Amino acid sequence: MSTGSAFLAACRRQPVAHRPVWIMRQAGRYLPEYRALRAKVDFETLTRTPELAAEVTLQPLRRFELDAAILFSDIMTPLQGMGVGLDFTPGPHVREPIRSDAQIESLPPLVPERDVPFVLETIRLVRAAAPRGVPLIGFAGAPFTLLCYLVCGKPSKEFGPARAFLYAEPHAAERLLMRLADAMAAYLAAQAAAGAQALMLFESWAGLLAQPQFRRFALPAVARTFAALRASGVPLIYYVNQGSALMSAVAGLDVDVVGVDWRAGLQEVRAVLGPGKAVQGNLDPAALFAPPAELQRQADAVLAGAGAAPGHIFNLGHGIWPDTDPQAVARLVDYVHERG
Ligand code: CP3
Repeated sequence: MSTGSAFLAACRRQPVAHRPVWIMRQAGRYLPEYRALRAKVDFETLTRTPELAAEVTLQPLRRFELDAAILFSDIMTPLQGMGVGLDFTPGPHVREPIRSDAQIESLPPLVPERDVPFVLETIRLVRAAAPRGVPLIGFAGAPFTLLCYLVCGKPSKEFGPARAFLYAEPHAAERLLMRLADAMAAYLAAQAAAGAQALMLFESWAGLLAQPQFRRFALPAVARTFAALRASGVPLIYYVNQGSALMSAVAGLDVDVVGVDWRAGLQEVRAVLGPGKAVQGNLDPAALFAPPAELQRQADAVLAGAGAAPGHIFNLGHGIWPDTDPQAVARLVDYVHERG
């Protein structure tokens, strides 16, 4: 058995004393203490003030026996650092969506210590204060998911303009993706250097793509970012939302952990990914609204799908909803730990 972090051991597919669990969007609006802070401070100020961002990162760890912390920030924060004008209302709105070659060429590289020093300082503060030695996950948006927001300009169900851009301007799209891949590699390498103990890319909009487009556009960019990060020595996690149909493509990626949404069956996912990758997920966030006994049955189903082989990190299949009862989270975390 590993004596250190169950989360880090599971990332490396080592045996663990208990099943590690954390919750996507665990720092956020379902917590009264987060809402109390947000009543006084806007979201951007929270992310740009290291003391406050560190406090928000740690809030869920004080309430629940979570096995990992995740940096409080946003996938769009480094793009602001690169000079992209945007507002959170509350989703990100890009003031001048990127559609032209000139805009792509004028996107500067990201220099994290200069452009987003507050993120790195937040990481240092969290590492100094994390209870129980809980490891900290650093993160970024995956290049294609960032492209969706940059080209479309705002949150959307279909991201039509972004998908159209892939067909209308495939070479421009590839150039933009490679720039974003390099920027996120620099960003995550700096996070690891500041103390992040695992690095995660969020591909929130993978489900928009058929496998050929995923293989052509999204995957090479992710592979480029992760290849640059191998030297950091920390586990690498790729969260693929609505990616059941994409798993055979993801199987070829050099990554330690693949996170999946609740639509995917973990048994099937593990069969396709093979023994060389750990999996993370994948309880439906809606299951937190079930009565306690039913929530346990739903957690059991996730554990059964994951199976007994090392390399499973329990999580939701996507971010927790703002109207979730924190008591349900407490029950879930304790139950997953009891079940081992
Ligand atoms: O606890 C954590 O998970 C860390 C914090 C975190 C935030 N955003 C804070 C946030 C993380 C990991 C993100 C990532 C993020 N941001 C993703 C990828 C994960 C996913 O959900 O698929 C995406 C797609 C975004 C873009 C984004 N930022 C949206 C769509 C929104 C609005 C909708 C929402 O969920 O709130 C934001 C704003 C945002 N990011 C908030 C928070 C807490 C709400 C801001 C507020 O308090 O008003």
